Amino acid sequence: MTAAVAIALAVNGEALSPLAGPGETLLDILRSRAELTGSKRGCNTGVCGACTVLVDGKAARSCLMLAADCAGREIVTIEGLDGDPHAALLREEMAGAGAVQCGYCTPGMIVALTDLFRGSAEPPDAGAVRHWLGGNICRCTGYVSIVEAAVKAGRRAVGSEPGMAGR
Ligand code: FES
Ligand code: FES
Repeated sequence: MTAAVAIALAVNGEALSPLAGPGETLLDILRSRAELTGSKRGCNTGVCGACTVLVDGKAARSCLMLAADCAGREIVTIEGLDGDPHAALLREEMAGAGAVQCGYCTPGMIVALTDLFRGSAEPPDAGAVRHWLGGNICRCTGYVSIVEAAVKAGRRAVGSEPGMAGR
């Protein structure tokens, strides 16, 4: 039996060396070792997007990544986006639009959309948002309110922060 090994990685700006057992995923160690439970375990098979985090700045499904493969990577979870202006706008617009019902999908949606906003030169339209969220499943809302909220948040982000382009 292979023993757990410590892996060094940065999570939300903090250097951590959690133990990772054989087969343990990034989601496993975030939730059980780092006690960051904002990343949700929905399908655990890479389908629902509830576990989405940023890995070296790009949205990724943490349930599909072996923890051992994350050594040296920079991980940002929904908790690490507390001060992020894009995430703040998304939270506000999603709450206002009724886009949060059970809320289980919401962290993954916000993390994924933050990645979209950071890489967008223009505010994403509804089609772009729908395409981007193709791997994020919501069982409650029917997506309309989520897409509307994301489009509004994107417009506000551009208006209030001209330097968003290219970020
Ligand atoms: S829990 Fe990772 S994609 Fe569903
Ligand atoms: S709000 Fe319940 S799954 Fe999306």
